[in-house]
Amino acid sequence: MAAYDQMPDMDSEEFKRWQSLLEERTGVWLSENRKSFLITNLAQRMREKGFDSYQAYFESLDRSVGSAVEWASLVDLLTVHETRFFRDNESIELVKKHVEKMIKNASKSDSAQPLNAQVWSVGCSTGEEVYSLAMMLSDLDTSKLERTKKFYFGLTGVDISFPALAQAREGIYHQRRLMHVSPVLIEKYFDSLADGYYQVKNQLRHRTCFVQANIQELESSPKQLYDVIYCQNVLIYFQNNRRQQIVEQLVNRLAPGGLLVLGPGELNNLSHPLIEKVSTKHCQAYLRAGG
Ligand SMILES: C[S@@+](CC[C@H](N)C(=O)[O-])C[C@H]1O[C@@H](n2cnc3c(N)ncnc32)[C@H](O)[C@@H]1O
Repeated sequence: MAAYDQMPDMDSEEFKRWQSLLEERTGVWLSENRKSFLITNLAQRMREKGFDSYQAYFESLDRSVGSAVEWASLVDLLTVHETRFFRDNESIELVKKHVEKMIKNASKSDSAQPLNAQVWSVGCSTGEEVYSLAMMLSDLDTSKLERTKKFYFGLTGVDISFPALAQAREGIYHQRRLMHVSPVLIEKYFDSLADGYYQVKNQLRHRTCFVQANIQELESSPKQLYDVIYCQNVLIYFQNNRRQQIVEQLVNRLAPGGLLVLGPGELNNLSHPLIEKVSTKHCQAYLRAGG
């Protein structure tokens, strides 16, 4: 059985094989300076599975029975899930203004149709981003809408990691993770559990849906349109050519007039005929024409 301190060194050819495998399957690019991250996490999994050679483990991921299940566990270890509630307030404020505008437009329209705002969080990790947006949407003032006109919203979180999604669906967080959530919001949207844990209330969880998908394979996924697409701290782990391809797929899923919000370093120089840059101080946002 392999122990971490007994792990063999990884030569550059071996590193390149793992680097290519991860990029091919997830899009995530491990630069040379993340070799120790790779070794640490491989060691953990190889120890659990009883492998002591990188090559034997690598080959098992290709051929063995259950290799898809094993890959799902490994990918969780090799991707970064760091996230927090209200991680980027400027971006959340931008989404708020956008949906407020949708409410204002709906209040002026003659249509009796309910207003339904759909938000997509791409690379949602353990759910904090989705629930932050959900709390903001739930707190919007809809009094301008006629009594007969209802406001609905829904949020879909997508991630490649099954364990992260399982946590997101449960919506249980230790109070340490709630340090950026105001006491008023905690009181309103969380139930207190034992041992310092809190769970997002059902009224909010029922507005959310968490789905496993690989954002490299969006082309073959259903073409549902979203009013807001929120993608932060995900593409920074990808090489530039892949970032561009994924953002094009995201733009194709923006409803007319929809808002795409990317993190500050997510993609430089995005130009696409269907979208126009929104002027903001720090985040990157684009509007699709035709609202
Ligand atoms: C650093 S977290 C960002 C979480 C959140 N968006 C935020 O900004 O706080 C990046 C997430 O992207 C997910 N991810 C990485 N590659 C992916 C892929 N190919 N398809 C879907 N999700 C992916 C990871 O599993 C991880 O949960």
